[in-house]
Amino acid sequence: MSDRKARLSIDGCTQPIELAVHSPTLGPDVIDVGDLSGHGFFTHDPGFTSTSSCESKITYIDGDKGVLLHRGYPIEQLAAQCSYLEVAYLLLNGELPNAAQGAEFSSAISRHSMVTEWLRDFYNGFRYDAHPMAMLCGVVGALSSFYHDLLDIHDAEHQQITTHRLLSKMPTLAAIAYKHSIGQPALYPRNELDYTSNFLYMMYGTPCETYEVDPVVARAMDRIFILHADHEQNASTSTVRLAGSTGANPFTCIAAGVAALWGPSHGGANEAVIHMLEEIGDIKNVDSVVARAKDKDDPFRLMGFGHRVYKNFDPRATVMKQTCDEVLEALGVSDPSLEIAKRLEEIALEDDYFIEKKLYPNVDFYSGIILRAIGIPLNMFTVIFALGRTAGWLAHWNEMIAEGSKIGRPRQLYTGPAKRDVKPLGER
Ligand code: ACO
Repeated sequence: MSDRKARLSIDGCTQPIELAVHSPTLGPDVIDVGDLSGHGFFTHDPGFTSTSSCESKITYIDGDKGVLLHRGYPIEQLAAQCSYLEVAYLLLNGELPNAAQGAEFSSAISRHSMVTEWLRDFYNGFRYDAHPMAMLCGVVGALSSFYHDLLDIHDAEHQQITTHRLLSKMPTLAAIAYKHSIGQPALYPRNELDYTSNFLYMMYGTPCETYEVDPVVARAMDRIFILHADHEQNASTSTVRLAGSTGANPFTCIAAGVAALWGPSHGGANEAVIHMLEEIGDIKNVDSVVARAKDKDDPFRLMGFGHRVYKNFDPRATVMKQTCDEVLEALGVSDPSLEIAKRLEEIALEDDYFIEKKLYPNVDFYSGIILRAIGIPLNMFTVIFALGRTAGWLAHWNEMIAEGSKIGRPRQLYTGPAKRDVKPLGER
């Protein structure tokens, strides 16, 4: 908080309205407009381009400088030195775990990895070609039906066990969705494996033979989870918070987050990037695609480009690109899409349209190529994003409950008809 005040003069009002100005630890000062309604006004900001919706201590982004910090730690350092579970611990608890805390957390998470057989039966109700994100939305919400006795959102023990359950069961739920779509039996988790290896085992293992997790693949997947773990008040996290502000249980709040993530403007972009690269097909077509992206009359956009907050390189994309090169080399995979992606990036970064609008590759631009190289099917890409983001969603839900937030209830600029009377049917 600071002593600074903002004064808002409005035509027709005798006195300016005085508004408090808050100073965050990092980032620009924030004008508190909460008192405006008491003066008969409220603000209008569709898409929340200039509006902070909450106070948070979890993640900081400087979009102009291309900086992303979780609890103060740069994403590049976390990606290089930590595991996903350590980052999840950090997001949830505010500090990185020491060895004993890390081992205890990992063991607590692994103990919840199974899902009840009744829930496994739910999958048989989905068609063979159901999108895994559609299944995930349904089964995550359905988890709440099994834990009636542990859904007091203000009870610290209930909060913790639900947090552990969600973090632990997401890989199992995701892998069952995949197995359902290819008609293979779902595997039970193997808790002696680490979090990410266990997910890969449930994805690629079969009951017929032993599946050895490739450490290169496990490390790449773990890094993808880290790079997606949190991103402050993005659309899906804000959805989790909005749903949670009503007092809804966390399983349903996270299901709401999964639903919001699915859109191609958000987490669905990683799937859309691969579709786009496949449609381009050849480096020689890159110029015409860039021309389409610039054409005002064409709704086409370069998927994986642009971001609401980053007006510089998305630091996650930089790590992702490096990981992409490493993984493809280690696995000996040659993917023509990578060449197309690199050329596209080169052309776009030199083009006035992209320079002026500050459009840079975002996290989704290279993640799809890595996921494809390690054998993840296209319709599972956004599910992988949801797995990683679960740590962030839970951290924000816990923070919001601890802070005791008000129900989220935006106002609107009404532009419909003024009051009028209903005419009898014959006169309408
Ligand atoms: N290709 C071409 N032009 C673009 C692109 C793009 N990918 N992104 C933005 N623009 C243009 C817009 O047409 C607009 O131009 P105008 O000012 O002439 O009208 C301008 O840049 C600003 O774009 P907005 O849509 O107003 O920016 P906003 O912040 O609302 O949107 C978004 C950000 C949704 C990410 C957008 O850049 C986009 O659609 N990108 C492609 C989808 C994508 O990659 N999404 C993943 C985001 S990251 C994540 O969620 C993990």
